[in-house]
Amino acid sequence: MNILIIGSGGREHAIADAFARSPKVKKIIVSPGNDGIGGIYECVKLCSHRDIADYCETSRIDLVFVGNEQPVEDGLTDFLRERGLRVVGPSQAAGRIETSKAFAKDLMQRHNVPSARYGKANSADEARSLIAEFGYPVVIKADGLSAGKGVYILEDSTAMEDALGALYSKTDKEGVIVEEFLSGWELSLFAITDGTDFCTTVFSQDHKQLYDNDMGPNTGGMGAVAPLEEGEAYREQIELEIIKPVIDAMREEAYPFCGVLYCGLMITREGPKVLEFNCRWGDPEAEAVLPLLKTDMVEICEAIIEGKISEIRLEWKPGCSVTLVLASRGYPAKPDTGYPIRISDPLESIISYAGVKAGSDCLVNNGGRVIMLTALGKDLMEARKIVYTDAQKIDFDGKYYRGDIGLRSNTFSIGLE
Ligand code: AMP
Ligand code: GLY
Repeated sequence: MNILIIGSGGREHAIADAFARSPKVKKIIVSPGNDGIGGIYECVKLCSHRDIADYCETSRIDLVFVGNEQPVEDGLTDFLRERGLRVVGPSQAAGRIETSKAFAKDLMQRHNVPSARYGKANSADEARSLIAEFGYPVVIKADGLSAGKGVYILEDSTAMEDALGALYSKTDKEGVIVEEFLSGWELSLFAITDGTDFCTTVFSQDHKQLYDNDMGPNTGGMGAVAPLEEGEAYREQIELEIIKPVIDAMREEAYPFCGVLYCGLMITREGPKVLEFNCRWGDPEAEAVLPLLKTDMVEICEAIIEGKISEIRLEWKPGCSVTLVLASRGYPAKPDTGYPIRISDPLESIISYAGVKAGSDCLVNNGGRVIMLTALGKDLMEARKIVYTDAQKIDFDGKYYRGDIGLRSNTFSIGLE
C-alpha cells in the first residue's frame, strides 16, 4: 500500500515509522514533512486540497492519514472523502471537539461528561466578571486552535490583565473560555474509533510546562512517557463516563467522530475530568506511544474506515518509553532559529524531526520544538537514562530541554484542596 501522511512535525514522523513497520506498506510519503523527515521518507509539498487529492490519484495513494488538526479545521478530510479517497481523520464538523473549546465544553455539559465548570466571554470585560465569579486560581483559554499556547493559569489580577492582553491581541473575535482550576494529576488517553465502537491505547503523560517541576508557561509539550500504569485504576471509569458518552453523542448529533480521539484528563479527588479533547494523536505523546504499538497500523486504519474497530485488539510491547523534546531558546514565545544541528555519536533513541530545515551542510533548527528523542527501556528509569545520554549527543546553539521528564509522582499532593 502507498500511504500519504499529512503534517510536518515529530508526531507525523512517528506515525510514518509506525506505518513503516507494517508488512502491507510499500511506500510512505509525508506532506509537507520537513527536511529531517525528508532524509528518511519522501516528502512532497502540496499547496491546496485539490493538489492533495490530485496527487493521491496520480500517485496511487491507498490511504491518507491526517496527522494534525489544522487540515481537519480547514475541511481537508471532507474534501478528500468527497473525492472518493480513503482517509483517516475526523470530518471538519467532528474536529470541532478540538478546534472550538466552546463546542467541546457545551457538548460535555449537555451529556454530563465530567469537566471543569466554565463560562464563555466575548470581551475582556466579560472575562473579568467571570473571573471574579470563579475566584483565583482560575484558567482562561483561547476558544480556537493555539498549538497548546493559548492556556493561562491565573493566580491574581496582574496575571489576569497580562493574559487578557495577550489573548485578545491574538484571538480577534473568537472569545475566551474561563474555567474552574482543577487540581490533581494529568494523563492522556487515545480512543481509536470508527464513530460507534472504540478501543483505547496505553496511558501516556505529556509535560506541558516549559521548565522542570511544571513551572513556567504552557507549551505544545516538552516530553512524554508511556505507559502510565497509574492510569489503569481509572480506565473503566474514563471509558464509561467520558469516551463512550462523547462518541455516542457525536454520532447521534450527526457528526460522528472517526479517527483518533485524544482525551487530555485530570485525575482529581472526585475522579477523572476532561481538560481537553483533540482530534488527533498528541505531540509528543505519539512519539512515546506509537513505538510501543505491536498491532499493524494499516489494520487499525482500515478498521476505522470500514467501521470494524470492534474487531481490533491493540497489542503493546513490554517496557516503557520516554520522549524528550529538544527545543529552541526562546520557545514558546519567540524561538531563536537557524543554528546548525550536530549529532556527535550514534543514538540509541529514536529520533523524530519537528522544527528543522536544511542548512548549508546540515540541518538547522527552524521552530520551537526541534527534535523529539524517544528511548525504550525495560522500565522508566532505563528509558530515561538512554534518552538523557542521547540528548547530550545532539548539539545546537540554544538547545533547551527539561531534565525531569518521567519523574512526576502522579499522586495527590498534600494540602491540595
Ligand atoms: P489544554 O490545552 O486545555 O489541555 O490546557 C493545557 C494545559 O493547561 C493542561 O494540560 C493543564 O496542564 C492546564 N490546564 C488546562 N485546563 C485546566 C484546568 N481547568 N485546571 C487546571 N489546569 C488546567
Ligand atoms: N501534547 C499535547 C497535544 O498534542 O495537544
